[in-house]
Amino acid sequence: MPGQQGRDGPRYGEPVLVLLPNGQRKVIVPRPGGFTDTRYGRISHDALTSVAWGAGVKTSTGAHVEVHRPSLPDIQMGLATHGTQVIYPKDTSLMTLMAGVGRGSRVAEAGFGSAFLTMVLACTVAPQGRVYAYDVNPRVLATAEKNLGLVSQCRDVVELRIHDVRQGIPQEGLDAVFLDMPDPWNVLDPAHRALKPSGSLVVFLPTVNQVSKLLREVQRHGGFTDPRVLETQVREYQANPEALRPLPVQVVHTGYMVFLRSRLKGEG
Ligand SMILES: C[S@@+](CC[C@H](N)C(=O)[O-])C[C@H]1O[C@@H](n2cnc3c(N)ncnc32)[C@H](O)[C@@H]1O
Repeated sequence: MPGQQGRDGPRYGEPVLVLLPNGQRKVIVPRPGGFTDTRYGRISHDALTSVAWGAGVKTSTGAHVEVHRPSLPDIQMGLATHGTQVIYPKDTSLMTLMAGVGRGSRVAEAGFGSAFLTMVLACTVAPQGRVYAYDVNPRVLATAEKNLGLVSQCRDVVELRIHDVRQGIPQEGLDAVFLDMPDPWNVLDPAHRALKPSGSLVVFLPTVNQVSKLLREVQRHGGFTDPRVLETQVREYQANPEALRPLPVQVVHTGYMVFLRSRLKGEG
């Protein structure tokens, strides 16, 4: 393909972050001969894939736009499809860090939904780790596959499977289990069996009522310890030194995170 050799820059089929003159951000997947229309004119995808990262290109009206490497949050918030409720980067980043997962970790997840958490887990554990991702609803598979295709360099570590995790999690000795589903208290036994001793169970829940119910069920179960409940609140600011203030419209509520560690049952 033209313009693809010997250059550290965007490639056809891989996401690119384009910064417009007004600071607006656009995430684009260039294709040969393609164009993207903006208020500053058309951006040629062939032009995007002929420059280096950080360089500028001219639109059809002569406006200057800049070409940058997108972060995973840029790809998720600017390009990925929200087919279900998704977990936002502010929460997935904390979930993975607090669960202690990293390169080489083996983790399970349910339900994978639109695969927002799956994308983060995959790129955290790749290339040697593994993500066993389950969802009970076959209709979410197409969106999950599409979104995972946006992080193709991490895709190989993920196994997507249609399965009800209340019936069990087929793996053993996992470093962590992540649950984002309406009734996680019905998965305490399967999660405990699948985790290695002192492994992490991380549950994402949208309401405090569900958090209360989970904590009561965790006490009854006895296989988990060190419960912690966290919520993240992130405010983005308008990055203008003359008028520095929070952006007026932002996401206020996403959900609560419950962190637990598996213990040997019957201890203490
Ligand atoms: C809110 S969505 C998950 C979103 C996902 N975490 C993301 O970040 O894109 C909840 C998913 O849980 C799935 N689910 C519900 N009960 C389940 C179960 N028993 N086993 C597996 N998946 C389940 C639903 O089908 C749904 O797709």
